[in-house]
Amino acid sequence: MDKLVIEGGKTLEGAARVHGAKNAVLPILAATVLNSGENIIHGCPDLKDVRSSINILRHLGCSVHRDGDTLTVNSAGAANCEIQEELMHEMRSSVIFLGAILARFGRAVTSLPGGCELGPRPIDLHLKAFRQMGIAIEEEHGYIKCHCDKITPAAIHLDFPSVGATENIMLAASLAEGTTVITNAAKEPEIVDLQDYLNCMGAKIDGAGTSVIQIDGVKRLGSAEHTVIPDRIVAATYLSCGAAAGGTIELTNVIPAHMEAVLSVAEQYGAKLYVSQDRIVQVAPQRLSPVKMIRTQPHPGFPTDAQSPLMAALTLARGTSIFVENIFESRYKHVYELCRMGADITVDGRLAVVRGVGALSGANVCAMDLRGGAALVVAGLAAQGRTTISDVYHIDRGYENLEDTLRGIGAVIKRE
Ligand code: EPZ
Repeated sequence: MDKLVIEGGKTLEGAARVHGAKNAVLPILAATVLNSGENIIHGCPDLKDVRSSINILRHLGCSVHRDGDTLTVNSAGAANCEIQEELMHEMRSSVIFLGAILARFGRAVTSLPGGCELGPRPIDLHLKAFRQMGIAIEEEHGYIKCHCDKITPAAIHLDFPSVGATENIMLAASLAEGTTVITNAAKEPEIVDLQDYLNCMGAKIDGAGTSVIQIDGVKRLGSAEHTVIPDRIVAATYLSCGAAAGGTIELTNVIPAHMEAVLSVAEQYGAKLYVSQDRIVQVAPQRLSPVKMIRTQPHPGFPTDAQSPLMAALTLARGTSIFVENIFESRYKHVYELCRMGADITVDGRLAVVRGVGALSGANVCAMDLRGGAALVVAGLAAQGRTTISDVYHIDRGYENLEDTLRGIGAVIKRE
């Protein structure tokens, strides 16, 4: 099993390019099932979760070819409408395929997604919306069997602005006869990217990025070519690396407008930011200021996925920062590993109190989930001495060539 080995204490200097957004690529790959045609998608990072989605597409009968960061998916051959259990468990967000498979075939069988490192990952909002759209759903022996003669458009209010549920409804409604309206929809940039891709296929969707999305179903969808938006969470992670290690870094291939909450926090911890249309330069302060309160919220609030990398950086602040994790039940597993490196963090339910310390010390630590693993990288870059991070496969789910990118801006990091 791979490990990352970091010799900490080196400031970071230089430019890092941010790759395409994992959480935009995954629903867009699901959307390729809808059009029985050729889809060319640029900016697809080569990540474990993207490879899992490609496996699902091939299992459904699609052909998928990668050329650099461009994926070509031809879904003409799609005929299967069952996602095997092992594929479902490989990646929790496989549930996003349900809406597209149902819209194409009127039938879908998959297994209930296992929980994951972040706690239970229910899909009740997805299924409640599907039932409103006339889809019959049987749940038995851990499997979900869905079928419908046709998908009925509906007015759907989401009890919580779930990203995945919003995306699944958009996918299912794209080919329905009539208009579906989602209220209290999630507003993440990845949802806007999915709308753009679907409309490029000939869909008629409006409102993504706001809490009301209208989908006017069409009879068929055509081929499309699209470039995926940059990954705002990878960008936020690099900012946390620069904040923790010190120095000046320039991020390219970013959309600052997707990162308002993250940039606001960076200013609060004392960074000097130079922001242009597709670049961010961060000059880290000599020592970080604490950030009084970070509450994770649906977009445009502070993103839950950026919580752990930021926390790792703030363990070294000149004072106390308080986090409230409002989105997932169990997203503090990195805390225990950070404390082994000398951090002073107290967790009570959704609250984490981070008292800044003068230094962290390198240690042997273990990644417990994707963003928690990234937090350990942030801490390792700043720590005195060597940090070895095991179970790196978690980190590989969301960061492409992380060690190469960090080495390119001065980090002493290698994979063993
Ligand atoms: C997406 O997950 C992202 N994943 C997550 O990123 C991200 O953290 C999350 O949105 C929130 O922004 C992808 O896009 C592939 P949700 P998703 O449905 O769709 C509860 C990463 O690190 N909920 O908005 O699963 C749920 O339990 C990953 O890249 C229900 O209760 O998130 C959670 O507490 C991690 N019932 C909250 O809503 C449902 O039917 C947010 O979930 C669905 C969700």
